[in-house]
This record gives sequence, C-alpha cells and structure tokens, in this order.
Amino acid sequence: MAALTFDLQTTDSASKARAGKITTDHGEILTPIFMPVGTVGSVKAVSQKQLYDDVKAQIILGNTYHLYLRPTLDILESAGGLHKFNGWHKPILTDSGGYQVFSLANNRKIKEEGVIFQSHIDGSKHLFSPERVMDIQRTIGGDIIMAFDECPPYPSDTKYAKTSMELTHRWLDRCFTQFNSTPDKYGYTQNLFPIVQGSTYKDLRKASSEYIASKGATGNAIGGLSVGEPEEMMYEICALCCDHLPVDKPRYLMGVGTPWNILENIALGVDMFDCVMPTRNGRNAMLFTSKGVINIDNKKWEKDFSPIDDGIDCETSNYYSKAYLRHLIKSKEILGLTIASVHNLAFYLHLVTEARKHILQGDFVSWKNEQVDILKTRL
Ligand code: GUN
Repeated sequence: MAALTFDLQTTDSASKARAGKITTDHGEILTPIFMPVGTVGSVKAVSQKQLYDDVKAQIILGNTYHLYLRPTLDILESAGGLHKFNGWHKPILTDSGGYQVFSLANNRKIKEEGVIFQSHIDGSKHLFSPERVMDIQRTIGGDIIMAFDECPPYPSDTKYAKTSMELTHRWLDRCFTQFNSTPDKYGYTQNLFPIVQGSTYKDLRKASSEYIASKGATGNAIGGLSVGEPEEMMYEICALCCDHLPVDKPRYLMGVGTPWNILENIALGVDMFDCVMPTRNGRNAMLFTSKGVINIDNKKWEKDFSPIDDGIDCETSNYYSKAYLRHLIKSKEILGLTIASVHNLAFYLHLVTEARKHILQGDFVSWKNEQVDILKTRL
C-alpha cells in the first residue's frame, strides 16, 4: 500500500484557492474538503449510512484522547482498527489529543516528556508523550494521524508562545522518530501530519511553518487558530502560514469554522477543514442553509412547511420541513438532533464541493464574495 499523495489540479488566478485530489489507501478525497468530527468514532447523532449517502462525507475525524480512554486500545486493536470497528470504510484522520488534553482533561501538567493528565471520565491518571501518542494513533488506525502539539490559549504573551512553539517542535522530532520506527499495523499506510503553532505572532508563525515544511511530510496542518482571536487576525496568520508551507502538499486548518470562515480560508490556500460547529450548533437549533443562518427555535418557523433547504442535494434537507424540525427540536426529540446534524454537515459538504467547482471554473473569488454575504444573513 502507498503513502498519501496530493494531485494539485488547479490554483485560482485571483486568489490562492486550490482544487486537488488526495489519494489514500482508503480512497480519494477531492479538495477543498470539510471533515465531519466523529470524536469517539461516531459523528454525533449521525449514522454511517447518512454520512455516506446524505452528507456525502469523504473523510471523517476521530479523537485520540477520547478513543484511548474509551473504548480503549485493547478493543480497537481486537477489532482490527477504527475502520473495522465503526464501519466507516473511507479515510479517517485522528487528532493527536494535543488539543483535547488541554481543553478537557483535569489536572494536566505539561513537561518536556509530555502531558500528565487525569481522565474526564473516571479521574484516572495518564501520560501522553509524543511516542505514546504515535503508538496510540497507530493502533486506532487513522489514515492521517496528527503530531502531538501544544495549542497555546489566546491571548498568550510572546514568551509563552515561543517556549510553547519550541516544545511543539521538539515533540514533533520525537513524533517522527517514533512514527518512522514503527510499522503500519493493519496493512494500509498511515501518514503523519505536523502542526504549525506560534500563536498570533508572525515571526513565530513563519519560523514554525518553515520548521514544519522542513519535515517533508505528506501533508501539513495549521493549529492554534480560531481559539478566540479576531477573525481578521485568524485570516492574516493563516495566509502567512500557507505562504510558508509547501505548495505541493495538502494544507489542513484545524478546528475552523463558520461557512464564511471556510470560504475565506480556502481563498488563502487551505485544502482541508474540520469543526464541531455544524453538529454542535445543529443540536442547538442553529442551521446553516443556502439562504443564510436559521435559528429553528424561533417562532417564525412554526408554520413554515417548506423544506429545510432545497438548495442542496441532500434527501434529509429536501424532505423534512422547517416547521417539523422546529417541533422536534422544541420537543427534544432525538430525530431532531439527527436531522439538524445531517443537514448542517450536508450543507458544509455542499459548500466545499461548490467552492471546488468554482475554483476549477475560474470564477471562485466573485462566487465566494457573493456567498459570504448570503451565508452570514440571519433569516
Ligand atoms: N484542533 C483545533 N486546533 C488544534 C490545534 O492547535 N492542535 C490540535 N492537535 N488539534 C486542534
């Protein structure tokens, strides 16, 4: 089996947007792409069949931190890896836990060796080191696995940001040493993506991007953004990182964002995105549609029997009405969570598919500018 490849098909002439094709041992991914988040090996409230047929997902995410704590590696290994365990046979990317351990775990202590933390489930004590996190992700079996990093909070002072970035770089060296000295476990090739850090400091971001680029990985990620900084700052930093990362490898912006954030970052040269927003906000009555943002809790939808969204190719969005979904969400019916999540994810996938189409067509920027206004409209 073979390492991931990236075929860069087009670069837009009026922006830095790209259309490409990633090939993995579990299939192809057309970029730009949005990856639904399946933290514990399940995209919340959405079945694998819905992900294949309605959402048209091409790759999903899993989280090392959660999967390691539950179901545990013993079970994942016995199953033959996460693909066999959860029945998702397209590509999977796992995040390293370098983010969740800071946002979820209790009593965490960062040391050179790694992070010691207590499980948010049962309080048990664990150590995540770069070596351990590589071994864990080998066992989970993602096609793309992420380096173990520290994501500094916003704002961080320069001194903290620099110390943290340097630690992330030393951890990265250890990640690659461990990754390169351990075999693929399940007969297909896994790929390690390093992560740029450096908070909001341009000199640090440039240094980090250059360091990450020097590793010659099959793909590269930008972390530490969308953590509370102003949107304009996120775009500025993301643009700088893209400009210093290899052109011929996919670029993954972690944890971003709103539909308009995704379009703006595609224009800066990002190829891959993930975010809990479509599922989390969907469960909380916020719908992203081809006409703008809907709060389905609002009384104005009470007797609106039109489809949730007839502007996208998704059976769920076309079939159920706004009034019915409002009723389900108000009644806290489980089906409401499913419909809202499936719709929002299908909308995100629709958006990146359209973006790709317009990049290939050569009219991406004018389309994007028009879309951003529509997407931000509160209906
Ligand atoms: N998800 C969102 N941001 C980050 C980040 O900076 N690092 C990691 N590992 N995951 C993330």
